[in-house]
Amino acid sequence: MNFERILENWLQTAPDQMTSRTRLSVLTGAAGAIGLAVARRFAADGHRVIMIDINRDKLREDASAIGECAVPFVLDISDFAAVERACKEISEQYGEVDTLVNNAGILSNAKTENVLLEDWKQIMAINLDGAFFLTRFLLPAMRKRRWGRIVNVCSLAMKTGGLTAGTAYSTSKGALGALTFSLAREVARDGITVNAVAPAYVKTPMVTEQLTNEQRQNIVDQIPVGRFCEPDEVAHLIAYLASSQAGFITGEIVDINGGLHMD
Ligand SMILES: NC(=O)c1ccc[n+]([C@@H]2O[C@H](COP(=O)([O-])OP(=O)(O)OC[C@H]3O[C@@H](n4cnc5c(N)ncnc54)[C@H](O)[C@@H]3O)[C@@H](O)[C@H]2O)c1
Repeated sequence: MNFERILENWLQTAPDQMTSRTRLSVLTGAAGAIGLAVARRFAADGHRVIMIDINRDKLREDASAIGECAVPFVLDISDFAAVERACKEISEQYGEVDTLVNNAGILSNAKTENVLLEDWKQIMAINLDGAFFLTRFLLPAMRKRRWGRIVNVCSLAMKTGGLTAGTAYSTSKGALGALTFSLAREVARDGITVNAVAPAYVKTPMVTEQLTNEQRQNIVDQIPVGRFCEPDEVAHLIAYLASSQAGFITGEIVDINGGLHMD
């Protein structure tokens, strides 16, 4: 066999070690607008998806609409002990987790002098601690198998200081970005990639309900593509980062903001 043929065979087989069994993916914030789009997309790609959310009713409804490959799992990701128990239960019941998407998050538009201590703590607990807890307990099995995909959902607010988003929110997403870099470096040699996406103004209740009409119009006027982002577009990007084909991308935060911010 000549060198080109060996290389061609290697390129075809090496990155895709996951085709022999169903991919097991854990997704937080799965009952939310972006989460549901990701769950649907993973299901369409043949994953079994553990859909984690604190919103029991919406979660059950969404998971049953997707079908058997979607498993609803009610969990408060900010509770360290509950996350530890949940990760143990997931691996005992469904097997080893291949993909983790840390998508759950809450928004506050409060700027520094209006930030209440309890809101600061809650935003950090959900947007940052929750992502760390899930990673902390799912990482050992990925490391052992020498394969894994972790995708964190950050926000453009981490780069801009929050055009409309508040101080605690922007800070939590910045820290989640730093966690992405730190972890990516730690586990790169173990076949695990760790990346993030930084969306802005996705057509979700965060945008439709938490902004005034005037703010929305003002923002659309500034977005070069002239519209808000669709949740499916974010799901598509996350699915790519979670795929076998993205094995050489790690420690990357991919912008998805319609050109609102270019760097
Ligand atoms: N919508 C946007 O324009 C936008 C822009 C940038 C980043 N993001 C990020 O994308 C992610 C998803 O946003 P979305 O717009 O779909 O929001 P969403 O409010 O529709 O979904 C968030 C989900 O997280 C869940 N959640 C909240 N606290 C939880 C907890 N303690 N434990 C488990 N689940 C919990 C909620 O129940 C909800 O279903 C968030 O991290 C958000 O910060 C959104």
